[in-house]
Amino acid sequence: MKTEKILTKYTHIKDYRNIETYLKYDGYKSIQKAIELGQKGVIDTLTASQLRGRGGAGFSTGMKWSFIINKPFPRYLAINADEGEPGTFKDRFIMRNSPHLLIEGIIVACLTLEIETAYIYIRGEFIEEANILEKAIEEAKSKGFVGKNIAKTGKNINIWVHRGAGAYVCGEETALINSIEGKKGQPRLKPPFPAEVGVFGKPTIVNNVETIANVPYIILNGADKFLEIGVPKNGGTRLIGISGHVNQPGIYELPMGFSFKEAIYSVAGGVLNNRKLKAVIPGGSSTPVLLPEEIENLTLDFDSIQSAGSMMGSGGVIVIAEDTCMVKTLLTLEEFYAHESCGQCTPCREGVPWIRDIIARIESGHGKERDIDKILSICDNMMGNTICALADAAAMPAKSFIQKFRNEFEDHIKMKKCPFNAKN
Ligand SMILES: Cc1cc2nc3c(=O)[nH]c(=O)nc-3n(C[C@H](O)[C@H](O)[C@H](O)COP(=O)(O)O)c2cc1C
Ligand code: SF4
Repeated sequence: MKTEKILTKYTHIKDYRNIETYLKYDGYKSIQKAIELGQKGVIDTLTASQLRGRGGAGFSTGMKWSFIINKPFPRYLAINADEGEPGTFKDRFIMRNSPHLLIEGIIVACLTLEIETAYIYIRGEFIEEANILEKAIEEAKSKGFVGKNIAKTGKNINIWVHRGAGAYVCGEETALINSIEGKKGQPRLKPPFPAEVGVFGKPTIVNNVETIANVPYIILNGADKFLEIGVPKNGGTRLIGISGHVNQPGIYELPMGFSFKEAIYSVAGGVLNNRKLKAVIPGGSSTPVLLPEEIENLTLDFDSIQSAGSMMGSGGVIVIAEDTCMVKTLLTLEEFYAHESCGQCTPCREGVPWIRDIIARIESGHGKERDIDKILSICDNMMGNTICALADAAAMPAKSFIQKFRNEFEDHIKMKKCPFNAKN
Protein backbone atom coordinates (compact mmCIF):
# COMPACT_ATOMS: atom_id res chain seq x y z
CA MET A 1 0.00 0.00 0.00
CA LYS A 2 1.28 3.45 -0.95
CA THR A 3 1.71 5.59 2.13
CA GLU A 4 2.46 9.02 0.66
CA LYS A 5 1.31 11.90 2.81
CA ILE A 6 -0.87 14.63 1.33
CA LEU A 7 -1.86 16.85 4.23
CA THR A 8 0.99 16.38 6.69
CA LYS A 9 3.95 15.90 4.35
CA TYR A 10 5.60 19.16 5.39
CA THR A 11 3.92 20.05 8.66
CA HIS A 12 7.04 19.06 10.65
CA ILE A 13 9.02 21.81 8.88
CA LYS A 14 9.78 24.86 10.99
CA ASP A 15 7.67 27.89 10.08
CA TYR A 16 5.62 25.94 7.53
CA ARG A 17 2.70 28.11 8.61
CA ASN A 18 4.45 31.13 7.13
CA ILE A 19 3.91 31.83 3.46
CA GLU A 20 7.61 32.14 2.59
CA THR A 21 8.28 28.61 3.85
CA TYR A 22 5.04 27.28 2.36
CA LEU A 23 6.02 28.61 -1.06
CA LYS A 24 9.30 26.65 -0.95
CA TYR A 25 7.38 23.36 -0.77
CA ASP A 26 5.14 23.58 -3.85
CA GLY A 27 2.92 26.12 -2.10
CA TYR A 28 0.24 27.80 -4.25
CA LYS A 29 1.40 25.94 -7.39
CA SER A 30 -2.00 24.33 -7.94
CA ILE A 31 -3.54 27.73 -8.73
CA GLN A 32 -1.77 28.01 -12.09
CA LYS A 33 -2.60 24.39 -12.86
CA ALA A 34 -6.26 24.99 -12.03
CA ILE A 35 -6.33 28.00 -14.38
CA GLU A 36 -4.86 25.85 -17.17
CA LEU A 37 -7.37 23.05 -16.55
CA GLY A 38 -10.32 25.43 -16.51
CA GLN A 39 -13.67 24.82 -14.83
CA LYS A 40 -14.48 21.56 -16.56
CA GLY A 41 -10.96 20.22 -16.19
CA VAL A 42 -10.84 20.89 -12.43
CA ILE A 43 -14.27 19.40 -11.77
CA ASP A 44 -13.54 16.36 -13.95
CA THR A 45 -10.23 15.84 -12.13
CA LEU A 46 -11.87 16.06 -8.72
CA THR A 47 -14.65 13.72 -9.79
CA ALA A 48 -12.15 11.22 -11.21
CA SER A 49 -10.11 11.38 -7.99
CA GLN A 50 -13.20 10.21 -6.11
CA LEU A 51 -12.47 12.69 -3.35
CA ARG A 52 -15.27 12.24 -0.82
CA GLY A 53 -16.30 14.83 1.74
CA ARG A 54 -14.36 14.59 4.98
CA GLY A 55 -17.06 16.34 7.04
CA GLY A 56 -18.93 13.13 7.69
CA ALA A 57 -21.23 12.07 4.87
CA GLY A 58 -18.54 11.19 2.31
CA PHE A 59 -20.32 12.84 -0.63
CA SER A 60 -18.35 13.22 -3.90
CA THR A 61 -16.72 16.65 -3.95
CA GLY A 62 -16.50 16.81 -7.75
CA MET A 63 -20.20 16.10 -8.04
CA LYS A 64 -21.05 18.69 -5.38
CA TRP A 65 -19.05 21.34 -7.24
CA SER A 66 -20.77 20.43 -10.51
CA PHE A 67 -24.18 21.29 -8.98
CA ILE A 68 -23.32 24.97 -8.90
CA ILE A 69 -21.86 25.63 -12.35
CA ASN A 70 -25.08 26.72 -14.03
CA LYS A 71 -26.43 28.59 -11.04
CA PRO A 72 -26.79 32.38 -10.88
CA PHE A 73 -24.31 34.81 -9.33
CA PRO A 74 -23.14 35.72 -6.77
CA ARG A 75 -22.18 32.33 -5.42
CA TYR A 76 -20.52 31.63 -2.10
CA LEU A 77 -18.10 29.14 -0.63
CA ALA A 78 -18.49 28.22 3.03
CA ILE A 79 -15.72 26.21 4.63
CA ASN A 80 -16.93 24.12 7.51
CA ALA A 81 -14.37 24.49 10.30
CA ASP A 82 -16.88 24.04 13.09
CA GLU A 83 -15.48 20.65 14.15
CA GLY A 84 -17.80 19.98 17.06
CA GLU A 85 -18.23 16.22 16.91
CA PRO A 86 -16.70 14.63 20.02
CA GLY A 87 -13.59 12.64 19.13
CA THR A 88 -12.82 14.85 16.12
CA PHE A 89 -9.84 17.20 16.06
CA LYS A 90 -8.35 16.92 12.57
CA ASP A 91 -9.44 20.24 11.03
CA ARG A 92 -7.85 22.03 13.95
CA PHE A 93 -4.58 20.27 13.05
CA ILE A 94 -4.75 21.54 9.46
CA MET A 95 -5.61 25.11 10.43
CA ARG A 96 -2.93 25.19 13.08
CA ASN A 97 -0.13 23.62 11.08
CA SER A 98 -0.94 24.19 7.45
CA PRO A 99 -3.28 27.18 7.06
CA HIS A 100 -2.01 28.00 3.57
CA LEU A 101 -2.98 24.55 2.29
CA LEU A 102 -6.58 25.36 3.19
CA ILE A 103 -6.35 28.83 1.65
CA GLU A 104 -4.83 27.40 -1.54
CA GLY A 105 -7.73 24.93 -1.82
CA ILE A 106 -10.20 27.77 -1.26
CA ILE A 107 -8.63 29.80 -4.07
CA VAL A 108 -8.82 26.85 -6.48
CA ALA A 109 -12.48 26.38 -5.55
CA CYS A 110 -13.27 30.09 -5.96
CA LEU A 111 -11.52 30.42 -9.33
CA THR A 112 -13.15 27.24 -10.62
CA LEU A 113 -16.65 28.01 -9.42
CA GLU A 114 -16.49 31.76 -10.12
CA ILE A 115 -16.92 32.66 -6.47
CA GLU A 116 -15.69 35.98 -5.07
CA THR A 117 -16.48 35.49 -1.40
CA ALA A 118 -15.48 32.58 0.80
CA TYR A 119 -16.26 32.22 4.49
CA ILE A 120 -14.32 30.01 6.85
CA TYR A 121 -16.88 29.26 9.54
CA ILE A 122 -14.71 28.36 12.50
CA ARG A 123 -15.72 26.94 15.85
CA GLY A 124 -15.73 29.72 18.46
CA GLU A 125 -13.37 27.93 20.80
CA PHE A 126 -10.64 27.81 18.12
CA ILE A 127 -9.27 31.23 18.96
CA GLU A 128 -5.64 30.42 18.20
CA GLU A 129 -6.56 28.79 14.88
CA ALA A 130 -8.74 31.75 13.87
CA ASN A 131 -5.81 34.09 14.53
CA ILE A 132 -3.48 31.84 12.53
CA LEU A 133 -5.93 31.89 9.61
CA GLU A 134 -6.35 35.68 9.73
CA LYS A 135 -2.58 36.08 9.56
CA ALA A 136 -2.27 33.55 6.73
CA ILE A 137 -5.00 35.34 4.73
CA GLU A 138 -3.11 38.63 5.15
CA GLU A 139 0.08 36.92 3.92
CA ALA A 140 -1.77 35.45 0.94
CA LYS A 141 -3.14 38.92 0.17
CA SER A 142 0.35 40.40 0.26
CA LYS A 143 1.43 37.88 -2.40
CA GLY A 144 -1.58 38.53 -4.61
CA PHE A 145 -3.30 35.16 -4.04
CA VAL A 146 -6.23 36.81 -2.29
CA GLY A 147 -7.72 40.18 -3.20
CA LYS A 148 -8.15 41.68 -6.65
CA ASN A 149 -7.20 40.24 -10.05
CA ILE A 150 -5.90 36.89 -8.80
CA ALA A 151 -3.08 35.48 -10.97
CA LYS A 152 -4.02 38.05 -13.65
CA THR A 153 -7.34 36.31 -14.22
CA GLY A 154 -9.31 39.50 -13.58
CA LYS A 155 -11.10 37.61 -10.78
CA ASN A 156 -11.35 38.85 -7.19
CA ILE A 157 -11.39 36.66 -4.10
CA ASN A 158 -12.11 37.62 -0.52
CA ILE A 159 -11.85 35.21 2.39
CA TRP A 160 -13.51 35.98 5.72
CA VAL A 161 -12.98 34.10 8.95
CA HIS A 162 -16.38 33.89 10.63
CA ARG A 163 -16.32 32.72 14.23
CA GLY A 164 -19.09 30.57 15.64
CA ALA A 165 -20.29 30.81 19.20
CA GLY A 166 -19.87 27.24 20.38
CA ALA A 167 -22.96 25.43 19.09
CA TYR A 168 -22.37 21.92 17.72
CA VAL A 169 -25.42 22.17 15.48
CA CYS A 170 -23.81 25.07 13.57
CA GLY A 171 -21.58 22.43 11.94
CA GLU A 172 -24.69 21.24 10.08
CA GLU A 173 -24.41 23.02 6.76
CA THR A 174 -27.71 24.90 6.76
CA ALA A 175 -27.37 25.98 10.42
CA LEU A 176 -23.89 27.18 9.46
CA ILE A 177 -25.40 29.22 6.64
CA ASN A 178 -27.99 30.77 8.97
CA SER A 179 -25.24 31.61 11.44
CA ILE A 180 -23.12 33.29 8.74
CA GLU A 181 -26.17 35.38 7.87
CA GLY A 182 -26.39 36.49 11.49
CA LYS A 183 -29.51 34.46 12.17
CA LYS A 184 -30.10 31.91 14.92
CA GLY A 185 -27.87 28.88 14.23
CA GLN A 186 -30.66 26.44 13.44
CA PRO A 187 -30.81 24.00 10.51
CA ARG A 188 -33.10 24.65 7.55
CA LEU A 189 -35.31 22.08 5.88
CA LYS A 190 -33.73 20.57 2.76
CA PRO A 191 -34.49 20.83 -0.14
CA PRO A 192 -33.61 23.42 -1.23
CA PHE A 193 -29.98 22.40 -0.81
CA PRO A 194 -27.22 24.99 -0.33
CA ALA A 195 -26.11 24.67 -3.98
CA GLU A 196 -29.47 26.18 -4.82
CA VAL A 197 -30.30 28.41 -1.83
CA GLY A 198 -27.35 28.98 0.45
CA VAL A 199 -25.68 31.98 2.07
CA PHE A 200 -27.92 35.08 1.64
CA GLY A 201 -30.22 32.94 -0.49
CA LYS A 202 -27.51 32.43 -3.12
CA PRO A 203 -25.93 29.23 -4.50
CA THR A 204 -23.33 28.02 -2.02
CA ILE A 205 -20.84 25.18 -1.74
CA VAL A 206 -20.23 23.96 1.80
CA ASN A 207 -17.11 21.86 2.21
CA ASN A 208 -15.16 20.61 5.18
CA VAL A 209 -11.62 21.90 5.90
CA GLU A 210 -9.94 18.54 5.23
CA THR A 211 -11.87 18.09 1.98
CA ILE A 212 -10.66 21.42 0.62
CA ALA A 213 -7.11 20.85 1.88
CA ASN A 214 -6.91 17.81 -0.43
CA VAL A 215 -7.74 19.85 -3.53
CA PRO A 216 -4.26 21.37 -4.21
CA TYR A 217 -2.61 17.92 -4.25
CA ILE A 218 -5.22 16.47 -6.62
CA ILE A 219 -5.03 19.40 -9.03
CA LEU A 220 -1.24 19.46 -9.02
CA ASN A 221 -0.65 15.70 -9.22
CA GLY A 222 -3.76 14.43 -11.01
CA ALA A 223 -6.59 12.13 -10.04
CA ASP A 224 -4.65 8.91 -10.63
CA LYS A 225 -1.91 9.76 -8.15
CA PHE A 226 -4.55 10.47 -5.53
CA LEU A 227 -6.39 7.24 -6.24
CA GLU A 228 -3.15 5.24 -6.10
CA ILE A 229 -2.80 6.17 -2.44
CA GLY A 230 -6.18 4.88 -1.33
CA VAL A 231 -8.41 2.00 -2.31
CA PRO A 232 -11.07 1.90 -5.06
CA LYS A 233 -13.78 4.55 -4.57
CA ASN A 234 -11.87 5.86 -1.53
CA GLY A 235 -9.02 7.98 -2.86
CA GLY A 236 -6.22 9.51 -0.83
CA THR A 237 -5.60 9.60 2.87
CA ARG A 238 -7.57 10.44 5.99
CA LEU A 239 -6.49 12.42 8.98
CA ILE A 240 -7.47 9.97 11.67
CA GLY A 241 -7.81 11.37 15.17
CA ILE A 242 -7.24 8.55 17.63
CA SER A 243 -8.33 9.25 21.18
CA GLY A 244 -9.57 7.47 24.29
CA HIS A 245 -7.74 4.55 25.86
CA VAL A 246 -4.60 4.47 23.70
CA ASN A 247 -0.98 5.06 24.57
CA GLN A 248 -0.36 7.68 21.89
CA PRO A 249 -3.50 9.61 21.08
CA GLY A 250 -3.16 12.08 18.24
CA ILE A 251 -3.71 12.93 14.59
CA TYR A 252 -2.28 10.47 12.07
CA GLU A 253 -2.48 10.74 8.30
CA LEU A 254 -3.14 7.24 7.02
CA PRO A 255 -3.93 6.00 3.52
CA MET A 256 -7.53 5.03 2.95
CA GLY A 257 -7.78 1.29 3.36
CA PHE A 258 -5.24 1.16 6.21
CA SER A 259 -5.75 -1.64 8.74
CA PHE A 260 -7.96 -0.54 11.64
CA LYS A 261 -6.12 -2.81 14.10
CA GLU A 262 -2.74 -1.54 13.02
CA ALA A 263 -3.91 2.02 13.50
CA ILE A 264 -4.76 1.28 17.11
CA TYR A 265 -2.00 -1.14 18.01
CA SER A 266 0.98 0.12 16.11
CA VAL A 267 0.28 3.71 15.03
CA ALA A 268 -1.36 4.81 18.31
CA GLY A 269 0.81 2.57 20.50
CA GLY A 270 -1.88 0.10 21.58
CA VAL A 271 -4.53 0.12 24.27
CA LEU A 272 -3.64 2.06 27.42
CA ASN A 273 -1.89 0.06 30.15
CA ASN A 274 -2.07 -3.08 28.03
CA ARG A 275 -5.76 -3.42 28.76
CA LYS A 276 -7.94 -5.46 26.42
CA LEU A 277 -9.91 -3.65 23.76
CA LYS A 278 -13.61 -3.49 24.55
CA ALA A 279 -15.06 -1.37 21.75
CA VAL A 280 -14.26 1.28 19.16
CA ILE A 281 -16.28 4.25 17.95
CA PRO A 282 -14.94 4.57 14.39
CA GLY A 283 -15.86 8.00 13.03
CA GLY A 284 -16.80 10.50 15.72
CA SER A 285 -19.24 10.01 18.59
CA SER A 286 -22.36 9.77 16.44
CA THR A 287 -21.22 6.63 14.59
CA PRO A 288 -22.35 3.17 15.75
CA VAL A 289 -19.89 1.46 18.09
CA LEU A 290 -17.96 -1.60 16.88
CA LEU A 291 -16.75 -4.66 18.79
CA PRO A 292 -13.11 -5.88 18.69
CA GLU A 293 -14.10 -8.80 16.45
CA GLU A 294 -15.77 -6.39 14.04
CA ILE A 295 -12.53 -4.46 13.48
CA GLU A 296 -10.39 -7.61 13.25
CA ASN A 297 -10.06 -7.40 9.46
CA LEU A 298 -11.57 -3.99 8.96
CA THR A 299 -9.90 -1.23 6.96
CA LEU A 300 -10.17 2.51 7.42
CA ASP A 301 -12.27 3.66 4.47
CA PHE A 302 -15.87 4.75 3.90
CA ASP A 303 -17.14 1.56 2.27
CA SER A 304 -15.53 -0.99 4.60
CA ILE A 305 -16.72 0.71 7.76
CA GLN A 306 -20.18 1.07 6.26
CA SER A 307 -20.33 -2.62 5.46
CA ALA A 308 -19.39 -3.31 9.09
CA GLY A 309 -22.57 -1.43 10.07
CA SER A 310 -21.04 1.88 11.06
CA MET A 311 -19.55 4.97 9.39
CA MET A 312 -16.17 6.53 8.79
CA GLY A 313 -17.75 9.91 9.54
CA SER A 314 -15.28 12.55 10.62
CA GLY A 315 -12.38 10.14 11.15
CA GLY A 316 -12.44 10.37 14.95
CA VAL A 317 -11.57 6.93 16.32
CA ILE A 318 -12.44 6.61 20.02
CA VAL A 319 -10.87 3.58 21.68
CA ILE A 320 -12.62 2.05 24.69
CA ALA A 321 -10.75 -0.40 26.92
CA GLU A 322 -12.07 -3.25 29.07
CA ASP A 323 -13.58 -2.32 32.44
CA THR A 324 -15.18 0.79 30.96
CA CYS A 325 -18.86 1.12 31.76
CA MET A 326 -20.71 1.38 28.46
CA VAL A 327 -23.81 2.81 30.15
CA LYS A 328 -21.79 5.66 31.61
CA THR A 329 -20.00 6.17 28.28
CA LEU A 330 -23.31 6.40 26.45
CA LEU A 331 -24.62 8.76 29.12
CA THR A 332 -21.70 11.11 28.46
CA LEU A 333 -22.50 11.10 24.73
CA GLU A 334 -26.22 11.66 25.23
CA GLU A 335 -25.60 14.51 27.69
CA PHE A 336 -23.72 16.19 24.87
CA TYR A 337 -26.40 15.65 22.22
CA ALA A 338 -29.24 16.67 24.56
CA HIS A 339 -27.38 19.89 25.34
CA GLU A 340 -26.79 20.60 21.63
CA SER A 341 -30.30 19.97 20.25
CA CYS A 342 -31.49 23.26 18.79
CA GLY A 343 -35.08 22.48 19.78
CA GLN A 344 -36.84 23.00 16.45
CA CYS A 345 -38.12 19.43 16.04
CA THR A 346 -40.20 17.70 18.69
CA PRO A 347 -38.63 14.22 18.27
CA CYS A 348 -35.15 15.68 18.86
CA ARG A 349 -36.02 18.32 21.46
CA GLU A 350 -38.00 15.85 23.56
CA GLY A 351 -36.42 12.56 22.52
CA VAL A 352 -32.73 13.22 23.15
CA PRO A 353 -33.11 14.56 26.73
CA TRP A 354 -35.57 11.74 27.36
CA ILE A 355 -33.09 9.00 26.41
CA ARG A 356 -30.39 10.87 28.34
CA ASP A 357 -32.58 10.82 31.47
CA ILE A 358 -33.41 7.13 31.12
CA ILE A 359 -29.75 6.22 30.68
CA ALA A 360 -28.87 8.36 33.73
CA ARG A 361 -31.51 6.49 35.69
CA ILE A 362 -30.08 3.12 34.64
CA GLU A 363 -26.52 4.22 35.44
CA SER A 364 -27.54 5.37 38.93
CA GLY A 365 -29.18 2.02 39.68
CA HIS A 366 -32.78 3.20 39.42
CA GLY A 367 -33.58 1.75 36.00
CA LYS A 368 -36.51 -0.55 35.19
CA GLU A 369 -36.33 -3.50 32.81
CA ARG A 370 -38.69 -1.87 30.32
CA ASP A 371 -36.34 1.16 30.09
CA ILE A 372 -34.01 -0.54 27.61
CA ASP A 373 -36.71 -1.13 25.01
CA LYS A 374 -38.13 2.31 25.72
CA ILE A 375 -34.80 3.86 24.67
CA LEU A 376 -34.83 1.82 21.45
CA SER A 377 -38.38 2.86 20.68
CA ILE A 378 -37.65 6.56 21.27
CA CYS A 379 -34.61 6.26 18.97
CA ASP A 380 -36.73 4.68 16.22
CA ASN A 381 -39.20 7.53 16.51
CA MET A 382 -36.44 10.13 16.25
CA MET A 383 -34.51 8.74 13.31
CA GLY A 384 -35.38 10.23 9.95
CA ASN A 385 -38.13 12.36 11.46
CA THR A 386 -36.30 15.62 12.00
CA ILE A 387 -34.96 18.61 10.08
CA CYS A 388 -31.31 17.69 10.50
CA ALA A 389 -29.32 14.60 11.39
CA LEU A 390 -28.55 15.60 14.99
CA ALA A 391 -31.37 13.37 16.20
CA ASP A 392 -29.91 10.44 14.24
CA ALA A 393 -26.47 11.32 15.65
CA ALA A 394 -27.91 10.84 19.13
CA ALA A 395 -29.94 7.75 18.26
CA MET A 396 -27.25 5.75 16.43
CA PRO A 397 -24.83 5.38 19.36
CA ALA A 398 -27.72 4.62 21.76
CA LYS A 399 -29.07 1.86 19.52
CA SER A 400 -25.68 0.31 18.88
CA PHE A 401 -24.57 0.45 22.53
CA ILE A 402 -27.75 -1.37 23.55
CA GLN A 403 -27.53 -3.85 20.70
CA LYS A 404 -23.93 -4.75 21.51
CA PHE A 405 -23.80 -4.31 25.29
CA ARG A 406 -27.39 -5.03 26.36
CA ASN A 407 -26.15 -7.27 29.16
CA GLU A 408 -24.44 -4.29 30.80
CA PHE A 409 -27.66 -2.28 30.79
CA GLU A 410 -29.47 -5.30 32.27
CA ASP A 411 -26.80 -5.78 34.96
CA HIS A 412 -27.17 -2.17 36.08
CA ILE A 413 -30.91 -2.70 36.43
CA LYS A 414 -30.64 -6.07 38.22
CA MET A 415 -27.84 -5.01 40.59
CA LYS A 416 -29.43 -1.59 41.17
CA LYS A 417 -26.02 0.02 40.77
CA CYS A 418 -23.20 0.47 38.28
CA PRO A 419 -21.16 -2.75 38.32
CA PHE A 420 -18.06 -0.87 37.24
CA ASN A 421 -18.17 2.01 39.69
CA ALA A 422 -14.66 2.94 40.85
CA LYS A 423 -13.03 1.43 37.78
CA ASN A 424 -14.10 4.29 35.49
C1 LIG B 1 -25.40 17.99 13.63
C2 LIG B 1 -24.37 18.03 12.54
C3 LIG B 1 -23.12 18.57 12.80
C4 LIG B 1 -22.16 18.63 11.78
N1 LIG B 1 -20.94 19.14 12.08
C5 LIG B 1 -20.01 19.23 11.10
C6 LIG B 1 -18.72 19.81 11.36
O1 LIG B 1 -18.41 20.22 12.49
N2 LIG B 1 -17.84 19.88 10.33
C7 LIG B 1 -18.15 19.43 9.07
O2 LIG B 1 -17.33 19.55 8.17
N3 LIG B 1 -19.34 18.87 8.80
C8 LIG B 1 -20.27 18.78 9.77
N4 LIG B 1 -21.50 18.25 9.47
C9 LIG B 1 -21.78 17.85 8.07
C10 LIG B 1 -22.18 19.08 7.23
O3 LIG B 1 -23.58 19.26 7.33
C11 LIG B 1 -21.81 18.93 5.74
O4 LIG B 1 -22.28 17.70 5.31
C12 LIG B 1 -20.32 19.02 5.46
O5 LIG B 1 -19.79 20.22 5.95
C13 LIG B 1 -20.09 18.94 3.96
O6 LIG B 1 -18.73 19.02 3.65
P1 LIG B 1 -17.97 17.84 2.88
O7 LIG B 1 -18.80 17.46 1.71
O8 LIG B 1 -16.66 18.43 2.50
O9 LIG B 1 -17.84 16.71 3.86
C14 LIG B 1 -22.47 18.15 10.49
C15 LIG B 1 -23.73 17.59 10.24
C16 LIG B 1 -24.66 17.52 11.26
C17 LIG B 1 -26.00 16.93 10.96
S1 SF4 C 1 -32.91 17.49 14.61
FE1 SF4 C 1 -32.53 18.54 16.55
S2 SF4 C 1 -30.79 19.85 16.14
FE2 SF4 C 1 -31.61 19.23 14.13
S3 SF4 C 1 -33.03 20.84 13.57
FE3 SF4 C 1 -34.23 19.33 14.68
S4 SF4 C 1 -34.20 19.97 16.83
FE4 SF4 C 1 -32.59 21.10 15.76
